[in-house]
Amino acid sequence: SKNVGILAIDIYFPPTCIQQESLEAHDGASKGKYTIGLGQDCMAFCSEVEDVISMSLTVVTSLLEKYGIDPKQIGRLEVGSETVIDKSKSIKTFLMQIFEKYGNTDIEGVDSTNACYGGTAALFNCVNWVESSSWDGRYGLVVCTDSAVYAEGPARPTGGAAAIAMLIGPDAPIAFESKLRGSHMAHAYDFYKPNLASEYPVVDGKLSQTCYLMAVDTCYKHLSDKYEKLEGKPFTLIDAEYFVFHSPYNKLVQKSFARLVFNDYLKDPSSADEIAKEKLGPFATLSSDESYQSRDLEKASQEVAKTLYDAKVQPTTLVPKQVGNMYTASLYAAFISLIHNKYSTLDGKRVILFSYGSGLTATMFSLQLHDGQGPFSLSNIAKFPPEKFVEIMKLMEHRYGAKEFVTSKDTSLLSPGTYYLTEVDSKYRRFYEKK
Ligand code: ACO
Repeated sequence: SKNVGILAIDIYFPPTCIQQESLEAHDGASKGKYTIGLGQDCMAFCSEVEDVISMSLTVVTSLLEKYGIDPKQIGRLEVGSETVIDKSKSIKTFLMQIFEKYGNTDIEGVDSTNACYGGTAALFNCVNWVESSSWDGRYGLVVCTDSAVYAEGPARPTGGAAAIAMLIGPDAPIAFESKLRGSHMAHAYDFYKPNLASEYPVVDGKLSQTCYLMAVDTCYKHLSDKYEKLEGKPFTLIDAEYFVFHSPYNKLVQKSFARLVFNDYLKDPSSADEIAKEKLGPFATLSSDESYQSRDLEKASQEVAKTLYDAKVQPTTLVPKQVGNMYTASLYAAFISLIHNKYSTLDGKRVILFSYGSGLTATMFSLQLHDGQGPFSLSNIAKFPPEKFVEIMKLMEHRYGAKEFVTSKDTSLLSPGTYYLTEVDSKYRRFYEKK
């Protein structure tokens, strides 16, 4: 089958969220540290009535309904998650409740786990299945679902929560350029979850930043080398329209793109413009280890990259800045931000994605976009999720610390016996009901 890739995408994130500005104040961090320093606006989190399973049930049901997909048409379902609820039973098996009802239990695939990379592994598995001789003609379905929470301390503002579902098949508006891929996998203790009794990771923040940036560089080099073998010329940033990154927090995305600009400069200093030559020239002789420690290089390359960043990366940052790090869902939430912002101009364009999971596993890969037709079109993908998202965000910004409102009382997601908020009156008194 041809042009295998993503036919449809849907996202769900919990309506509960916290403004980074108020978290800053609450944590006693200096003003601007989370909003400007990390570049984050808001952070979603699961309240006690939601978790990675409920979020993935919600998003899968929603995708099937929106795109009119008969649950019998799904032949493979793969889940990426690093939020361990059960050490043996996969999240995939919880999702089978949706399909069993329709008599479909003939669905391959289980869960993939390695920090934020599991969703990409699941995606590659589904794409490979559709391209393989064992494909039976039905759709693949990929689910990325995570609740990212950190212990109190500097990592806490880099949490988030969401679930993404992606429908996989041939003739897709978002097709894989499978030859154009570079990976970097190594052993590191930058972020891990050895304490099975705790939801919180053990994290070496500084090391995780360096590991991430080294993985960006190495994957970019592998991808460029493969491109050069195929096309007979080096790959540079002008060869793709947009760059989408796994987004723990926006500042790291800015630094990552600046690394790519620095890489292009090192590849061919003579073709750089005068400003780049002047600003990046002094760093050309740094060893790669030194280059990760140099704050001056970080500043200079971010300055040089600014205009390109605004054009090629900024349109991908909407959802990650508002919802936070969604772990496995983060990269794909950045990608749907791009579709939401630019869907009418993406036909024929190449987009490069970078997936990173601590520990560590990373891949940079390429997608070719086409307008598509019918339900499986970019304009249709663009239509749903972010509009609902902006609506919820507006509501929550307004609701946070507010008074005098009644809630939707929409308890369709809650199980019997659960209490839910119905009203906050003019004296900030909160009223609850039991389902
Ligand atoms: N106004 C503006 N900027 C500020 C302010 C302020 N008042 N205060 C600090 N800053 C800036 C800092 O200069 C820094 O920016 P810079 O790197 O451009 O200089 C930024 O805010 C962050 O400040 P730091 O002191 O570096 O932050 P800290 O070390 O306390 O925590 C960290 C940041 C390490 C990212 C932490 O949140 C963390 O450990 N997060 C989890 C790990 C993570 O997400 N790693 C990413 C890859 S792995 C993964 O995906 C899980």
